[in-house]
Amino acid sequence: MDVSLKLYVGFFLLYMLSLEQSLANNSSSFPSNFFFGTSSSAYQYEGAYLANGKGLNNWDVYSHKPGNLIVDGSNADIAVDHYHRYLEDIDLMHSLGVNSYRFSISWARILPKGRFGEINEAGIKFYNNLIDGLLLKGLFAFLESLFLSFLHIDICFKSFGDRVKYWVTFNEPSFQVKFGFQAGTFPPSRCSKPFGNCTYGDSEKEPFITAHNIILAHIAAVHIYRTKYQATQGGSIGIVLHCFWYEPISNSVADKLAAERAQSFSINWYVPFTILFFIFYTNEAVVYELETVLQKLNKGLDFIGINHYTSYYVQDCMFSACEPGPGTSKMEGYFAQSSQKNGTRIGEPTELVGRNVYPQGMEKIVTYLKDRYHNVPMIITENGYGDMNKPNSTTESLLHDVERIKYLAGYLDALSTAIRKGADVRGYFVWSLLDNFEWNSGYTIRFGLHHVDYETLRRTPKSSATWYRNLISQHIAKDCKKHHMFCNNIVD
Ligand code: NOJ
Repeated sequence: MDVSLKLYVGFFLLYMLSLEQSLANNSSSFPSNFFFGTSSSAYQYEGAYLANGKGLNNWDVYSHKPGNLIVDGSNADIAVDHYHRYLEDIDLMHSLGVNSYRFSISWARILPKGRFGEINEAGIKFYNNLIDGLLLKGLFAFLESLFLSFLHIDICFKSFGDRVKYWVTFNEPSFQVKFGFQAGTFPPSRCSKPFGNCTYGDSEKEPFITAHNIILAHIAAVHIYRTKYQATQGGSIGIVLHCFWYEPISNSVADKLAAERAQSFSINWYVPFTILFFIFYTNEAVVYELETVLQKLNKGLDFIGINHYTSYYVQDCMFSACEPGPGTSKMEGYFAQSSQKNGTRIGEPTELVGRNVYPQGMEKIVTYLKDRYHNVPMIITENGYGDMNKPNSTTESLLHDVERIKYLAGYLDALSTAIRKGADVRGYFVWSLLDNFEWNSGYTIRFGLHHVDYETLRRTPKSSATWYRNLISQHIAKDCKKHHMFCNNIVD
């Protein structure tokens, strides 16, 4: 090893030590029964495109269509082959010491012909095996199932609910609505000008119709779970929202209101409605005072899942003129979002446009939801750091992901502050266990704690995996005696 490399390795180890040191106290500031986990999603991970009776899902169709907007022309036919390698992946989770895993169901795997067809038993078997494999290693399953129809949600509760205790109805509805029905960059690629360039769609109407239907579907699913399953299965059900933190660009009332509007389009649109509609839907009451509604929050959801990555400044466009751009139209809430204020960034830039590092955003968004929704239980269902795949760099250099460690450490620190100040946060999941298929960015972005070689599908832990493992083991070691379940996961 030459001298400069030795020095580099020396400094790197010292740096890791000091980061771990600085988080030693941090790890103890999480509640003792806290969930530490990693997240994934079916399309981004499973591969096994048409294996064992699976049908086509909307991303299968979209990614195979010429002219789609996936930058490297790839698809997730193989992805990281989680379908065949799930046992190896559970072993990776076990060696991280996490106590939970958030994953999603591919409807096309269990209902290949959609709502009118038969159940594909092979698909049910795959998820049963995955859940059993997790339980064997002492891991809780957090299952996300984007609903196909009201009638079929029953299948999931019936087949998996004896072992799955945390259910999520929808992941990031605001993004599904925005990209699928306003910009048209996600399937079903519906939009109209000037929002996007699609063959069909109406960007001014369909996002609202879709959001409305998502809310109704959420409520129907919750209703089924509550009335048929919750009492015997004893689980919880919630929704996952993509939550940016929006910082008003100035102290003016107009900019503060604009930041509030921005939150309403991604969060507040969904949360209060899921509560209100639930009450009407179940005929329990006709009118509630707002305060009573908030106290009844657990009727429409048991927890809010938060996917949080970054923050933006927000400027009002209702009372002042803005350059046209995302958010500025009436349909989007009349606000302009920006990563900069007077030429200064909100946080350290990353290699991904718009994803600046602003750990304070984590504390702020959690506190915002706590204050606004009566300290509803919260779970950070995704937080993570993406870097660009660099075809010319060595795997070695991709494995030394110091920036990812810094990011995760900062955000966890901010989260622990919010918890110390009273926020009821029950868990934290890193996106993601493995590098994987990142939607329109294909395989050009890597989010994993483990590097995946896409030629061989070999998984290799990055430095961040070691770091996360140490953080969790410090936490678990302290609480092991009190909570024997976590002791199972202690790794030597
Ligand atoms: C949110 C999404 O749920 C997930 O699919 C995506 O890959 C990550 N964010 C990273 O962008």
